[in-house]
Amino acid sequence: MTTIVEHPTFVTHLECGLTGKRYEADQIHNLSEAGRPLLVRYDLDGIREAVSKDDLARRPGGLWKYREFLPVRKTENVVSLGEVETPLVRLPSLERRLGAAEILVKDEGRLPTGSFKARGLALAVSKARELGITRVAMPTNGNAGAALAAYASRAGIRSTIFCPADTPEVNVSEIELQGATVYRVNGLIDDCGKIVGEGKAKAGWFDVSTLKEPYRIEGKKTMGLELAEQLGWEVPDVIFYPTGGGTGLIGMWKAFAELQAIGWITGKLPRMVAVQASGCAPIIKAWKDGLEHAPRWENAHTVAAGIRVPQAVGDFLIVRAVRESGGFGITVDDDAITAALHRTAREDGLLLCPEGAATIAAYEASLEQGLVAPTERAVLYNCASGLKYPLPHVSRSLDRHAPIDHAAL
Ligand SMILES: Cc1ncc(COP(=O)(O)O)c(C=O)c1O
Repeated sequence: MTTIVEHPTFVTHLECGLTGKRYEADQIHNLSEAGRPLLVRYDLDGIREAVSKDDLARRPGGLWKYREFLPVRKTENVVSLGEVETPLVRLPSLERRLGAAEILVKDEGRLPTGSFKARGLALAVSKARELGITRVAMPTNGNAGAALAAYASRAGIRSTIFCPADTPEVNVSEIELQGATVYRVNGLIDDCGKIVGEGKAKAGWFDVSTLKEPYRIEGKKTMGLELAEQLGWEVPDVIFYPTGGGTGLIGMWKAFAELQAIGWITGKLPRMVAVQASGCAPIIKAWKDGLEHAPRWENAHTVAAGIRVPQAVGDFLIVRAVRESGGFGITVDDDAITAALHRTAREDGLLLCPEGAATIAAYEASLEQGLVAPTERAVLYNCASGLKYPLPHVSRSLDRHAPIDHAAL
């Protein structure tokens, strides 16, 4: 059982990610006046004095152990479904085949609702409860909607969710089963986002879209805090992240900055690698073109539904994190994603989601192109359980009444 006890909190204010303008903490906020994401700022000296690495080591695993680094003030507002510490799973077959020293998959599929979206939505919904919000709405490619539905229902908050019509069936069904009102929309995630934006005032929804409220990123930040703690308060050389709206990449980069500021990690930070599909790669294009903002990607398509995001409001934060870290952007095509998914399942016994498989394909391509060295410790993010996606049909069958040639099986 997860026991969540009261801890002091250290939020000082919020800050526009683009202009740096300050906003008051503990008020209801969406985007800044500049139309950009708000970032939560903390009294980091206060955190350093209040908690130690040893304190954290004694607490049960899971994202709520990092309470001092999180914005929820009161434990009574915490909405939890049993968030676990997700494992780092090595891929020995892949390491052998590529001659690589250490490839670790952070398998986020073990979280409630089967994806890392649980981290962001656990925080966003808890903070929404703290701020007295009773109705929320969100566009989704599937996993975020599932997490929002589950946490909102648990908190007694009504949720309305819009997803592209071709969102994986499991996602649409789980969203509805977990108590949300869900609509399929004949468009992409940004088209769904427009419906939320336009309906907000009329329907009284609070908009929980990626980076349009300040707290999902704080939940995703725990991927970075947890990773550093798991590695003995060290960071890997390089991180491969399947990038859609980019909350996870931005969140981890924020986590490392905060840990560095309090002196818990020292030395070089990891190179952050944004991975996108070649059928939808606005961020990689912006990075290559030397831009901060990424124009909308037209005719977006990929088997990796979670990273089919034609335009991201936090584009500049993703590009900045990649640049500041000395990382890079890379695209992979759908065939490479599917091949990596099948091979990792068959050879290393780990069933990835397509977005996770994209990071494997990207790692292999990066190694081949000399962008990473085989001696480097690499962490790849598998953001959801492979079981949430359509799986290949198996046609082999046996008639138990007919003679069976066992030796031929
Ligand atoms: C499985 C999976 N991977 C990656 C992503 C992209 O995550 P982010 O918005 O943090 O870039 C998503 C988002 O829907 C997802 O569902």
